[in-house]
Amino acid sequence: MRTRHPYEDPSRPVPDRVADLLARMTLPEKIGQMMQLDAREGVEDHIVVTHAGSLLHTSPERLELAHRLVAQTRLRIPILVGEDCIHGHSFCEGATIFPTQLGMAATWDADLIEQVARATAVEAATTGVHWTFSPVLCIARDLRWGRVGETFGEDPYLIGELASAMVRGYQGDGPDDPTALLATAKHFAGYSETQGGRDASEADLSRRKLRSWFLPPFERVAREGCRTFMLGYQTMDGVPITVNAWLLDEVLRGEWGYTGTLVTDWDNVGRMVWEQHVQPDHVHAAAAAVRAGNDLVMTTPQFFAGAQEAIARGLLDEAEIDRAVARILTLKLELGLFENPRRPDADAQRAVVGSASHAALNLEVARRSLVLLRNDGLLPLDGGFRRTDDGRADGSGRATRTVAVVGPLADDAQTQLGDWAGSSGQVDWLPDGQPRDMITTVLDGVRATVPTGWSVTSARGADILALAPDPDGATFPDGQPRPPVVVPCAPDPALLDEAVALARAADVVVVAVGDRIELVGEGRSTATLELIGGQVALLDALAATGTPMVVVLIASKPLALPESALTASAVVWAANPGMRGGQAITELLLGLIEPSGRLPISFARHAGQQPTYYNQVRGQHGDRYADLPQTPAFAFGDGLSYTTVEYADLRLLDEVVVDVVRAEVTVRNTGSRPVRETVQVYLRDLVTSASWADRELKAYRQIDLAPGEARTVDLALPVSTCTIVDAQGRRVVEPGEFELLVGPSSRTDALLRARFTLTAEHVGRPA
Ligand code: NOJ
Repeated sequence: MRTRHPYEDPSRPVPDRVADLLARMTLPEKIGQMMQLDAREGVEDHIVVTHAGSLLHTSPERLELAHRLVAQTRLRIPILVGEDCIHGHSFCEGATIFPTQLGMAATWDADLIEQVARATAVEAATTGVHWTFSPVLCIARDLRWGRVGETFGEDPYLIGELASAMVRGYQGDGPDDPTALLATAKHFAGYSETQGGRDASEADLSRRKLRSWFLPPFERVAREGCRTFMLGYQTMDGVPITVNAWLLDEVLRGEWGYTGTLVTDWDNVGRMVWEQHVQPDHVHAAAAAVRAGNDLVMTTPQFFAGAQEAIARGLLDEAEIDRAVARILTLKLELGLFENPRRPDADAQRAVVGSASHAALNLEVARRSLVLLRNDGLLPLDGGFRRTDDGRADGSGRATRTVAVVGPLADDAQTQLGDWAGSSGQVDWLPDGQPRDMITTVLDGVRATVPTGWSVTSARGADILALAPDPDGATFPDGQPRPPVVVPCAPDPALLDEAVALARAADVVVVAVGDRIELVGEGRSTATLELIGGQVALLDALAATGTPMVVVLIASKPLALPESALTASAVVWAANPGMRGGQAITELLLGLIEPSGRLPISFARHAGQQPTYYNQVRGQHGDRYADLPQTPAFAFGDGLSYTTVEYADLRLLDEVVVDVVRAEVTVRNTGSRPVRETVQVYLRDLVTSASWADRELKAYRQIDLAPGEARTVDLALPVSTCTIVDAQGRRVVEPGEFELLVGPSSRTDALLRARFTLTAEHVGRPA
């Protein structure tokens, strides 16, 4: 029998095991540990030749193969399996696909989001995944950016709350919890601050701006123990994040004391050579990346030879590689992978992947993610219904109706799931997407839920886009495929006529419009925010019929809606609502549930207004464009209910604030239906030493109120959160007058105000 080496002995302390193993490894084996390679091809090479320490995008078959190959290697160092489980276990057939991150953010419910992450971890862990590249903590700023739908929206406080919950959910009881995944805070940091929305362009950010808004959510999860951070693609102030010593050493590992793992984004190391042109070759790029403290290098195959050559040429010391490898081995030992590599477990998968309880959770998240943006009283239809035992609306004793369900997205199951799901393009083993029978489209939902006896008709009405090859060629310089370019479809008279005829014959028309995967995601930013293709013509034509119209916007991100949508009877934004979205939407239309989602991001009237986020820095000439108002169409925090809610009597509880600003407000449901109200608390610092946002969300509470019920809501804001970042980049409390702003939205006209003063005694307290 083979002798067991000390590193294989679980009774020994982790540092001893790491030291023993490291001493046995050759240089190529060490460099291999730093490599995270794409398992869509070449798995055998990755394991046998490159000694890869980690894989991503492993289909079930390729994962089995990888484990078998690892078992035959000299040292049998287990592989670390990473995957993009972004809103559910994205690329696992039959997994529960939840609303996208932006959709989840519209719930403003951290507990619910923690449950989503837990469910995702439980499903993914059974399939042999150890690590998810989620959540995204980028602040959505320019709506043209293709990845807005992957974010939690535009507000740093809300992002911090929801990201922290998601990390907790993924990481469960810690690294040795077999149902847990390592979470990733990405993309550290500033990636979303694009030029004109163009993906991964230079982020023109000052350190002060970073410390003010972009870094706080990351700092929070770093301090709370998020085990891994992924580094953004972009350069900032001339320096790629991958080698940004200020951000990685001084701030992350220095000030925040972060000891977790760093992974680059996709080919960040290579991009320094071929995209950003800041390194002459892969040898220098590898040396710079190691020296900056990166641990895992995602999909830069040239790193393997590059790092060896860097050592041979004296550009890099082997001890620098050793430090990174020691961190990776420590992580693997803490996960217990040497004892249990956590291979896929078919029995466990059958029990949890796509389980009924996860489907129920998914439906609840979808319901809560819907934001009612406009309602002239049409909704809930016919005043609303009760639910019968079979889940349908109870139409007994009521008039029967005809509902026309139209639009290109009314019955498009895979589009409804959004990016990072099934057939969204990142992997090749689910060409047809997630199983159709797990997905309820709007048409499915309406058919299954309207009262017995109602008629449901349907038509597509319009097409959105076609694809054409990119005239610049099929691949980028690194061999990655270039996505084809979008060609908007012209309105099709035959499709329009069919939809219009159905609308005319119906009591209500429900039209589902929005965006498609080709307009969403990495490298797929949009120059406009319009509804593409024949969709505007469809909305205009339907509006002209005079039939009451509900616009269901299934759009990854806020779009600029045409007049015919803005004046429709009702508008509901569903983001990408996941597998149960169609059912949730129908329940909302029929009043089986109450609308409760609130916008985590503002909707522009026009792309030219970018950016439209609410917490902009004060100071400009005037407050509008010559040809448009500056205000968004719908603001951060907006969202209607089926009832009316009144805020009154905002009062501060202490004449002199000590450590906490304490206040109360009375919130009253003045209508006839129940409500889940999100009470939003903003802070305004009246005069600041350096220019600052007019107001910032600092807290919120969700309360349920029955018709007619009033509640006194306690609010408490620690003085330590009443900060700005001063001109020296320090986060400080400054003395002076402040306003507490409380209400149902970030719109100033919706907020009650109460003024308080902080004095010299509060100054200088660290946040
Ligand atoms: C690139 C994306 O930017 C990142 O978010 C993702 O996790 C990795 N690719 C891995 O797929």
